[in-house]
Amino acid sequence: MRQKIVAGNWKMNKNAEETEDLLNDLIDQLPQDVDAQIIVAPTFINLASAVDHLEFTNIAVAAQNMHQNENGAYTGEISADMLKSIGVNIVILGHSERRAYFHETDTILAQKVTTALKHDMTVIFCFGEELKDRQNNQHFNVVENQLRDGLFHLENNDWEKIILAYEPVWAIGTGETASPEQAQEMHEFIRETIRKRYGSNVAEEVSILYGGSVKPDNAKEIFSKPDVDGGLIGGAALKASDFAAIVNGV
Ligand code: G3H
Repeated sequence: MRQKIVAGNWKMNKNAEETEDLLNDLIDQLPQDVDAQIIVAPTFINLASAVDHLEFTNIAVAAQNMHQNENGAYTGEISADMLKSIGVNIVILGHSERRAYFHETDTILAQKVTTALKHDMTVIFCFGEELKDRQNNQHFNVVENQLRDGLFHLENNDWEKIILAYEPVWAIGTGETASPEQAQEMHEFIRETIRKRYGSNVAEEVSILYGGSVKPDNAKEIFSKPDVDGGLIGGAALKASDFAAIVNGV
């Protein structure tokens, strides 16, 4: 059975005090007995306190990004070793906002993935087409290329540490969600693409999350699709009751 996962990407939201408040609310409101991995990704400066806060809970902590190099003159950047040293073992890579606003290319992302795996970290690898790609019927090609260029240098056993997150850019923060059928269609294509390159074992084991305007009222239906193994949640992860409702839908 594939692992179900619900991850909350807090993006550039919540200062130190607000982070503690939201973590406390999550501890109170998230279900204890859910058969899914729950992950939250606060900002870099609040990761250490989140790790402390969540130590005895079923909630894991992820970083939203990291640098591809081990250390050195990269002002403002954070390395895998730094994350590991405070107990962060999961990192989100390739988010569309990193690709669009910080010019992260497939080549850089492939390096980041390699570095994260070298440090035994789990990677939530994000990808997805833009609206123009879907309008031009290029969405499958775009997704296939992102997978190939970002991940297909990996060996079969590396995939134990990879979680995929399909996020159509046109659905992120827009209130517009891919329909459950559109999500399923793409997730099935993604799994098939992985199967062709790595075989059935890897394809059947890898969790593929959907991200893009997932809310309490649409989560359950999206998550009910056979190739959707959970979600990467943005806006709705900032309110404990909404995030808890989404987790309950998985
Ligand atoms: O990382 C999360 C995604 O960008 C989805 O964000 O739920 O606010 O649309 P959203």
